Amino acid sequence: MSKTFEVTLQKVVDHSYSIEIGEHLFASLVRDLQQGLIEGASKYAIITDSTVEPLYGRPLLELLRREGFQADLFSFPAGESSKTRETKALLEDQLLSHAYGRDCCIIAVGGGAVTDLAGFVAGTFGRGVPSLNYATTLLAAADASVGGKTGVNTPVATNLIGVFHQPRKVYIDLAAWRTLPAREFRSGLAETIKHACMSDEQFFSYLEANMDRIITAEGELILDAGCASISR
Ligand SMILES: NC(=O)c1ccc[n+]([C@@H]2O[C@H](COP(=O)([O-])OP(=O)(O)OC[C@H]3O[C@@H](n4cnc5c(N)ncnc54)[C@H](O)[C@@H]3O)[C@@H](O)[C@H]2O)c1
Repeated sequence: MSKTFEVTLQKVVDHSYSIEIGEHLFASLVRDLQQGLIEGASKYAIITDSTVEPLYGRPLLELLRREGFQADLFSFPAGESSKTRETKALLEDQLLSHAYGRDCCIIAVGGGAVTDLAGFVAGTFGRGVPSLNYATTLLAAADASVGGKTGVNTPVATNLIGVFHQPRKVYIDLAAWRTLPAREFRSGLAETIKHACMSDEQFFSYLEANMDRIITAEGELILDAGCASISR
């Protein structure tokens, strides 16, 4: 003899968030935190990689601390080979050893490998804590830092294990592209062309007509065209 009970569980969620595009957006991020963007957070964990750490991670950490925020930085070796379950576990152990709990906010600073990994940490740490993405590559700007897909690679396939976890806000710092190796810029450009190809004929034509100038201007033209594209 058995009985079945229904658990009625309907969920209406609003995961809307802003994407701010500009140059040198640390001050804007700090202002957002001061104005309560992340309600209830009392500790801030910057997650970054070893290349981005000295360029953007440390400066943001220093600014947050100067402004009175309790913040720490957790870094992993740069590169796709770090985007693993093992690195995620190491980051989680570091958060725990620094007494991080549910009252924290994860700030991912870097390219797509960082936003994927840090977003996955945020999606599962304490069953989910808020996160921000501060994108420093064109690829992260064009794709990885928005949309909420997070995850890690496995020996079987890339991005196989992860969660959907939407960031509370995305900052796209165009000034960061100036330190980006040309190869990484081109990799992001390829993704941008793919997006235009799939969904925006006018943007695709723009890219085609201006490719030489875009490459030499290191993307500044993409910003103009991309913003026009977003506002349409
Ligand atoms: N979640 C998604 O929807 C989504 C979409 C597309 C790609 N991705 C993921 O994104 C990753 C690729 O993104 P990526 O190319 O940004 O990877 P990445 O984070 O590995 O960055 C590439 C390299 O550039 C360095 N770097 C980053 N910013 C820099 C800067 N401003 N100056 C100098 N060096 C800098 C990094 O240290 C790294 O060595 C892959 O893991 C891919 O699976 C995710």
